[in-house]
Amino acid sequence: MLGLFPKLLIDFVDSENGSGLLDDIFRAAGIPKSRGFRENKIYPDREWQRLFSAACVRLDIAPDLMEVAFARYFARYTRENCLSIYSAFLDSKELIANLRSVHRQVIEKYSNLNRAETSLNGFRIDAAPAEGSIIAIHYSSPNKLCRFLEVLARQVTRFYGDDARVEHTAHCMKRGDFECEIHVSWEETPE
Ligand code: HEM
Repeated sequence: MLGLFPKLLIDFVDSENGSGLLDDIFRAAGIPKSRGFRENKIYPDREWQRLFSAACVRLDIAPDLMEVAFARYFARYTRENCLSIYSAFLDSKELIANLRSVHRQVIEKYSNLNRAETSLNGFRIDAAPAEGSIIAIHYSSPNKLCRFLEVLARQVTRFYGDDARVEHTAHCMKRGDFECEIHVSWEETPE
């Protein structure tokens, strides 16, 4: 996983709780604080998972709620630092339909990684038109961040002022499925 993710999680915990708790979280995760996650380096998914779990335990917050809070923090970061990505799309439907290329751009923007290193990014996120004005997002990853995905998708539709619904279907990695399927649907505007 690109270091931007753990780096922002640490910033988030720090901004809410102060650095005393951070020492504790690093210790519980078995990661030296000197690790200093760099936004443009790739780290093992297992480190992210240990950091995330330790943060949930130490903050006494359920993992799903932590995903929600982190998604809001992450969305604010992207609005402030990744405007060029948003402005490349006309609306949220176009951005969501191109999630794969968004992440390709992100990985290129943050890193000078070669193809072999980039393939270490263990998640797959794809979007395809489903029925009517629905786009189905297919997401699989050892990190299982589908609640994060849902909230971020909602934040993105709000950013463009679009009227949309985000719904997690019954397919969910947290229930043992191979992938999560999340549907985003937009209100049809009458001609
Ligand atoms: C708008 C700008 C966006 C930026 C800058 C961004 C950036 C990133 C980065 C840096 C990662 C970590 C990649 C890695 O593992 O190496 C990531 C992962 C992820 N992104 Fe985005 N993203 C954006 C938009 C979105 C949107 C709109 C969604 C969902 C609708 C989304 C869903 C996810 C999910 C679920 C992951 C976690 C993948 C995993 O399981 O590891 N992202 N994103």
